[in-house]
Amino acid sequence: MPGHEPLTLIEKVRPERMIKRLDQLSQIGQTIRGGVTRLAFTQEDRLARALAIDWLHQAGLEVRTSPIGNIFGRLGSPEPDLPVVMTGSHIDTVIDGGRFDGALGVVAAIEVAHVLKENGVSLSRPLEVACFVMEESSRFSTGYAFGSKVMTGQPIDDETLLAQDRTGQTLAEAIHAMRRRELGMEQALKPGDSIETARTYIRGSRYPPERIQAFIELHVEQGPILHTLGKPIGAVTAIAAPTRLAVILSGQQNHSGTTPMRLRKDALAAAAEAILAVERICRSSEGVVGTVGRAEVAPNVVNVIPGEVRMVIDVRSVSAGAKAGVAEAIRAEIGRIANDREVAYQLDTITNETPQPLSDKIVSLVEKNCQALGIECHRLASGAGHDAAQLAQVVADTGMIFVPSRDGISHDPQEWTDERDILTGAQILLLTLLDLTRQ
Ligand code: GLV
Ligand code: MN
Ligand code: MN
Repeated sequence: MPGHEPLTLIEKVRPERMIKRLDQLSQIGQTIRGGVTRLAFTQEDRLARALAIDWLHQAGLEVRTSPIGNIFGRLGSPEPDLPVVMTGSHIDTVIDGGRFDGALGVVAAIEVAHVLKENGVSLSRPLEVACFVMEESSRFSTGYAFGSKVMTGQPIDDETLLAQDRTGQTLAEAIHAMRRRELGMEQALKPGDSIETARTYIRGSRYPPERIQAFIELHVEQGPILHTLGKPIGAVTAIAAPTRLAVILSGQQNHSGTTPMRLRKDALAAAAEAILAVERICRSSEGVVGTVGRAEVAPNVVNVIPGEVRMVIDVRSVSAGAKAGVAEAIRAEIGRIANDREVAYQLDTITNETPQPLSDKIVSLVEKNCQALGIECHRLASGAGHDAAQLAQVVADTGMIFVPSRDGISHDPQEWTDERDILTGAQILLLTLLDLTRQ
C-alpha cells in the first residue's frame, strides 16, 4: 500500500465528522428524556436511513438497498470479483434508547470507508458498509436482527411476520409501508397480501454468504466491563442469545371492593410472583440473565381486580445449555404459581436463539492492532445481541470490536461513549479491515 501506511491513514479519521453525524441521527426520534425512539420501519427510521444513504454517497460509495431495506455501500477494488469484507451495524433503536447503540457502528464504518476512498487506498478486495434494518426487537417484541437474518438466509416464520406492534400493525405490513414510501410506490396492499409481499422482499434480500470474506461490527459495549477496567477496546469472543417466553396469565376480573381476598384470582398478583421467580432463578444461575421488560395488565384500572396479564420474559446467556435449563425452570415455576393461584396460563417460546462464538482470528487481529497503537485491549463476551451474531452463522471470519459505555448504561438516554474512545474504535476498525482486505 505505497504512500498509505496504515498508521498514517488512521490519522485521517475525523472524529468530529462522526460526532456530528451521531448527533444528527440522535435528533431523529429525540425524546423528552433526551433519548431516541427510532423504531424499525417507522417514519423516523426512514428519515435516518435516508441520512445514512446520503453519507454513503458523500463517502463516494456505490449504494444499493435490498428489497427488505438493508443498505449497502460498496468501495471497489482492482479485484471486484473477490468476496467482500463487510462492516456495519443498525440505526433503529429501542424506545427511549441511546444515541450510540448501532449508530456508532454505521457511522464509523462510513467514516473508515470515506477515509479509504478520499485517500485513494487501493484495496485487494471490495469493502462494503452495511446498515441492517430492524436489529432491535422493541417494536414487535420479536424479529431480533431481522435484516441480518434475512440477508443470511435464516428462516423467518409467519408468526414473526404477523407479530403486531402496539397499534396492531403487523411486521409484514410495516415493512411494506416503509419500503413503499422509500421506493415511491403508489399501491397500498390489499388485506391478506402483506405476508406474500414480505416473502417476496425476503427472497430478494439474500446475500450469498460465499460472497462475504469477513464481517466486523464496531459497537458500544452496553455493559460495565471496559468502563470498570478502564480499557478502551474490547475484542469480542462470543455473543449471547435471547430466549423469549410470552406468558398470558388469565384470572378472574372482578370488583375490587366486594371480592374477599380468599376468593380472588388476581392475574397481576400471579404475574408479580412469576416475575420474582424469574429474578430468583436467574440470580442463582451462573452466566444467565433474565428480564421481564414488558407487561400489560387488563383492564388496568384502579377498582378492578386484574383479569389478565400478558408479559414477555427475556433470558440470555452465552451458554445454550445454561439458558435452556433456566427457561425450563421458569416454565415449571410459572406452572406451579398458576396452579396454586388457580389462574389459567399460556406460555409460548417466541424466540430461541443460539449463542454464537466469534472468530479467534479477528480477536487476534484486534489485539495486534491495539498493541500497534499502544493501547490496552480486553477480551470479553457480549451480553447484548448483534447483527454480527447472524453473520457469524454463515461467515467464519466474523468479529466485533467494543468501545466502553460510561457506567455500563445502554438502552437508556444516558448511554454515553467518549469521543476519544469513538476515535480509537474507528481506528482499530480501519486497521482490522485493512488486515482483512489483504487476506
Ligand atoms: C439488542 O440490543 C438486544 O440485545 O436486545
Ligand atoms: Mn440495542
Ligand atoms: Mn445494537
